[in-house]
Amino acid sequence: MSTPDDLHLPDSALQGLGTRPFGVYVHVPFCATRCGYCDFNTYTAGELGSGAAPEDWLEGLRRELDLAARRLGTPPAADTVFVGGGTPSLLGAGGLAAVLDAVRQSFGLAADAEVTTESNPESTSPELFAGIRDAGYTRVSLGMQSAAPHVLRVLDRTHTPGRPVEAAAEARAAGFDHVNLDLIYGTPGERTEDLQASLDAVLESGVDHVSAYALIVEDGTALARRVRKGEIPMPDDDVLASDYELLDAMMAKAGLRWYEVSNWAASERARCRHNLGYWLGGDWWGAGPGAHSHVGGVRWWNVKHPARYTATLADAALPVGGQESLTAEDRHLERVMLELRLAEGLPLDALDADGVREARRAAADGLLSTRDLDGGRAVLTDNGRLLADAVVRRLVS
Ligand SMILES: C[S@@+](CC[C@H](N)C(=O)[O-])C[C@H]1O[C@@H](n2cnc3c(N)ncnc32)[C@H](O)[C@@H]1O
Ligand code: SF4
Repeated sequence: MSTPDDLHLPDSALQGLGTRPFGVYVHVPFCATRCGYCDFNTYTAGELGSGAAPEDWLEGLRRELDLAARRLGTPPAADTVFVGGGTPSLLGAGGLAAVLDAVRQSFGLAADAEVTTESNPESTSPELFAGIRDAGYTRVSLGMQSAAPHVLRVLDRTHTPGRPVEAAAEARAAGFDHVNLDLIYGTPGERTEDLQASLDAVLESGVDHVSAYALIVEDGTALARRVRKGEIPMPDDDVLASDYELLDAMMAKAGLRWYEVSNWAASERARCRHNLGYWLGGDWWGAGPGAHSHVGGVRWWNVKHPARYTATLADAALPVGGQESLTAEDRHLERVMLELRLAEGLPLDALDADGVREARRAAADGLLSTRDLDGGRAVLTDNGRLLADAVVRRLVS
C-alpha cells in the first residue's frame, strides 16, 4: 500500500492525453440505507464518523479536482462526466450542481459533454430533475432492480411500488432524452413472470437505455450471510441464462439493442459514452473516496473512507491509496476482456496467433460469429454472450 499523494505519472502515461476521450468520474459515498446485496464503497449517515459529512466530502472533492487538473499539466476538458455512487441524488439539485461546477472549474467541459448522474428513485422528484437539467446534466441513471415486491424484499430494497418507472417519466418530462433503468435478474424467488413484468414496466416507461445485471452474491454482504445460513439459495446458473435470453428477446422486440453484454440502447446516441470510455481503454480521473482512475496505462485508486479522504485533501495531498502500471500483458488481457463484451467485438489483430486459432475454434462451437470473423473481428453470438467469460479465457490462454 502506498502513502497518500505519491501518485507517479510518467511522461509516457501523459503522452497523447487529450487526444483520446477523457472522462471524469465522481464517487458519492452516501446511501440512505444499505441494500443487502451491495458492496459498493458507500455509507449510511449512522456509519459515517465526524469529518465525513456531505459538506466535508464536497470540499474534499473540490480540492481533489483542482489538484488533479494541475497534476495532469494541461488538463483535457471532460468529454464525459459520471456522478455515481452510492446515491448522488441524496445531494439534492444544489449539491449535484456544485459537483458539476467543480468539474467545470477544474477540467472544463467539452461542448457536447455527456453528464450522467446515478439516482435512487426514492430520493428523486420532478424538482430535482428540473434542477439538475438546468445545471447541465444530460443523462439520468436510476436503480430499479425489479418491479416485484417479493424480489425487492429479498434484495432488501425499499421502494414504493412503481416509483422507479414514475421517476423515469419525471426525468423525461424535465427534458432528459437519455434515461437508464438498472435491473437485477436471477434473484432467488424471482419467477419468469416477475422478470417479464419488470421488463414490461421498463419498456413501457420509454427509457432509451437499460442495464441488466445478474445478481452477484458479494462476500461480506447481508445477502451472502443469508445464503451461508441457508435462508436463501445461490442464484441458479441455468435460470440466469434463460433470464438473459428472455431479457434480450424482449429488449430487441422493443427496439433496444445490446451494445455491451449487460447494456441495451435504443440508438447509437443513447449509448453511455462514459462507460464506453472505460471499455475501450480511455483515460479518466476518478475523484472521491475509493474511486479508480486510469491514464495512459497507469491505474490508481483513492483511499476508501470518506473521513481519511477529506483529511488527506485538507493537507493539500492527493488521497491515493495505491497505484500500478499495467504491463503489456495486463493491457492485452483487459482489452480482450472488455472489448469482446461489446457488440462491435474485438479486432482480430489484437490477438496473437494462438488467440486467432482459438477464435476460429470458438466460431466453430457457435460462440463467435463466423461472418464477423471473416471480416476480421471477434464478435460474440447470442450463445457466446451467455459464456462471455469462458470465451475470453480461451482467447487469452
Ligand atoms: C450505484 S447503484 C445505482 C444507483 C442507486 N445507488 C440505486 O441503487 O438506486 C448501481 C447499480 O449496480 C447494480 N448492483 C449493485 N450491486 C450488485 C450486485 N451484487 N449484483 C448485481 N448488480 C448489482 C444495481 O443494479 C445498481 O442499480
Ligand atoms: S444499490 Fe445503490 S442504494 Fe443500494 S446500497 Fe448500493 S449504492 Fe446504495
